[in-house]
Amino acid sequence: MKTQINSCFKNSFFVLITLFFVLKASAQEPIKVFILAGQSNMQGHGEMEKGEKGNLNWVVNNDKTGKYKHLRDANGDWAKRDDVYIYATDKFDSIKSGKLSAGYGAFATTIGPELEFGRIVGDEYGNKVLLIKTTWGGKSINVDFRPPSSVSDSGYVSLPSKPKDTGYYYVKMLSDIYEVLDNLHDYVPDYKGEGYEISGFAWHQGWNDRVNKEANKAYEKNLAHLIKDVRSDLGTPNLPVVIATTGMKGWEDKDPRALSIMNAQLAMAKYPEFKNNVSVVDTRDFYKERPDSPANQFYHWNRNAESYLLIGESLGKAMVDLKAKQTANNVLQLIRNVARYDSDFLTPTPPVGWNSWNAFEKDIDENKIKQIADIMVSSGMRDAGYKYLVLDDAWMAAERNENGQLVADSIKFPNGMKAVGDYIHSKGLKYGIYECRGDLTCQNLPGSFEHEEIDMQSFADWGVDYIKLDACFAKKNGRLSSEDFDVYHKAILKTGRSMVLSISDFGSGAWAWGGKNYGQLWRTSGDIFPRIQSVYRCAETSGGDGASHPAFNGLWQFAGPDSWNDPDMLQVGNLKSITEDKVHFSLWSILAAPIMAGNDLRKMSDEVKDIITAKEVLAINQDPRTHQGYRVYEKDSIEIYNKPLSDGTTAVLMLNKGEKVSDITVFWEQIGLAGKQPVRDLWLEKDLGEFSESFTAKSLEKHEHLLIKVGTVGSPLVAGPTPVSEDKYTVPKSGTTYLSDIYYMAKKGNAPVEDKTFHGEKIKIGRKKFKKGLGVKSNAEMMYRLNGRADRFQATVQIDRSSPKDSIGRFQVMVEEKFGGRVLFDSGKMKRGDKPVEIDIDVIDLEFILLDFSGKKVFGNWGDPKVISNN
Ligand code: GLA
Repeated sequence: MKTQINSCFKNSFFVLITLFFVLKASAQEPIKVFILAGQSNMQGHGEMEKGEKGNLNWVVNNDKTGKYKHLRDANGDWAKRDDVYIYATDKFDSIKSGKLSAGYGAFATTIGPELEFGRIVGDEYGNKVLLIKTTWGGKSINVDFRPPSSVSDSGYVSLPSKPKDTGYYYVKMLSDIYEVLDNLHDYVPDYKGEGYEISGFAWHQGWNDRVNKEANKAYEKNLAHLIKDVRSDLGTPNLPVVIATTGMKGWEDKDPRALSIMNAQLAMAKYPEFKNNVSVVDTRDFYKERPDSPANQFYHWNRNAESYLLIGESLGKAMVDLKAKQTANNVLQLIRNVARYDSDFLTPTPPVGWNSWNAFEKDIDENKIKQIADIMVSSGMRDAGYKYLVLDDAWMAAERNENGQLVADSIKFPNGMKAVGDYIHSKGLKYGIYECRGDLTCQNLPGSFEHEEIDMQSFADWGVDYIKLDACFAKKNGRLSSEDFDVYHKAILKTGRSMVLSISDFGSGAWAWGGKNYGQLWRTSGDIFPRIQSVYRCAETSGGDGASHPAFNGLWQFAGPDSWNDPDMLQVGNLKSITEDKVHFSLWSILAAPIMAGNDLRKMSDEVKDIITAKEVLAINQDPRTHQGYRVYEKDSIEIYNKPLSDGTTAVLMLNKGEKVSDITVFWEQIGLAGKQPVRDLWLEKDLGEFSESFTAKSLEKHEHLLIKVGTVGSPLVAGPTPVSEDKYTVPKSGTTYLSDIYYMAKKGNAPVEDKTFHGEKIKIGRKKFKKGLGVKSNAEMMYRLNGRADRFQATVQIDRSSPKDSIGRFQVMVEEKFGGRVLFDSGKMKRGDKPVEIDIDVIDLEFILLDFSGKKVFGNWGDPKVISNN
């Protein structure tokens, strides 16, 4: 029963979809159908017998835990599942079908992920399960497996008819699937006309998309299209999709294209539209070294059977989890009647509101806040999207009440804080409030330390929706920042009220230590001031390479729903000119930054109001794709940022920070586009025409910019940049890692110079020259991610000889971050000429360490700073 490509496959799908519903309605328990698709890795090359070690026989014989007992039957033969059937293409494109057992890999002598995947879904969904495995090795989703919508809106230019045609195997996959679904009697021996339900789709592929540079570049976009197309072509819009990363050589694989494929795969789960319906499993842990495997063929997992068992198992579990979540979520969505976004997010897009600090500092009171609330409504701000009205520091009395509760400053807020919240809510706004995790706030009022639960409860009682949690004096808490925030997170959960937690820690690196597990946004910078240079400095911490290793190209890869990089509140309206105010707003917009207006609304000019409510500019910030803009060009005070949008276009900011009047040209190539593209000016809300390959903003004066939207609405999504792969900033599992060889997660102060002194010479400590090391100038903090994988940290430190005489420096190693960290090593004060100090300390189970060098204008050297993992 060899399949044929259906020449009008798209049309026949409609018929089939109708058929599907008819069939489904005719019996009670439809067969659950799972599709396993992909390339050679999904085909499966796990040897059953061949080789000395790591084949299926060996795995089952050496299975001490009994985990794989079920693979053999009572006679010692490979067991067959009575309730799970499989249809599978093999290496030669012939078809095998029957009850699931070992031997449905690329050959009759091999296995793939189907074996354990089938067990998990079989156990979970019982009754009858059918796996349809359509796989062809050596293909590319940029060519023969290419999904139609990635080619053009209307699909393929011509229908693929032979193997090398664009999309041939994509079409073949679908026609094979329908071939089976159409003829269930042939594939499910005791089929009784129950009908079927397409229940899930799993994808695992090999390395072909990395071979060709173009294919590699387009991979993320193609994969997203593949998911969407499969869903639409199967008529199952929310079909659960699980993807196993390509895996390659496991964690050792450093090939940039291999990493970019895997990162693109991992990125799928982060797309807002794929939240809770696509899940990705990272398979790199499943790689087994060659001596433990039947063959030396890393791209087929060294043909190790256990690798394929583990991949199948993780895909199966991910599928079950996803389906459970989806069911729960569907119910939730129905109850809450949320139309556009997943209701699980408190901040599906960056929060937008107004905060009192930049306008009034301590000088707030009930009247002012009420006036602000009124103006937020009357000015149209609320309707433009300004939801939160946040009271910053200094709303509270200097003493708590006799029950230890916070109380309002009775002069400023005579009716208490609940009344304030009631008023804010009565205006259709949300209520935000400030506290601090130290024992005092930054204004020396009562902080929440050791009152976390009481205070979160008071906030919940007052109807608070948003908490800005500051960090002054938190250093004294004796807790890590993550521990501190965990306390708040739990205290908030305990109240039962949904409250956004805004982490205000002056940019100490919350994105790095996992801030998103506790809050929805975190500062990336120190405080912002009403000067354009301060605005630029703050923007740089989120959109430039100021806060992290240049390879991050800013922190965009940490941004997304409930996970926002916050370069601080707005000074729009407080700056010197409208030109500056606009640049500020455009920067925050393109950086998907939280927008907290900070001007005195009572004195707001119409011009300023028009800026903060500019519809098309704000829409860039609020775009549901939630991609944070990233810098694509920076030279001679000229900067260009790009923010790929959900509608297939992309937003571009072209900014002249310099003194000279300049033209700025953006090339489509820099922003993931080509050919002729329409351009729209987002401030003027005006189409500027169509432009081929580039666009030039003419004669931009100092601090002038242009914010444009490029491309046609409805086009396939513009691909964003490839995220830096985690292993670039994570200590590998075993061996010795020099910290100068991996990226830091966050840094503050003077950047280290890698493998050189701060002045660029070779690092020399005592008599020894160090090839590896970090040259620093005080003050410099670098946070590295150990991921609980390292055992010891070692280094040799000394003050550099070029330091001024008598200058004093101090080397410290801490857990996590300086603001809320524990000191593991302290050199004490060191002077030039002091003997080198050897560090050799335990770092077992630590997620992050921080290397800190403090002092005044002094230079220091970390020689051979390294971590050692013994396992
Ligand atoms: C810190 C914060 C500011 C503001 C003040 C209030 O400096 O970073 O945003 O909240 O405290 O005291």
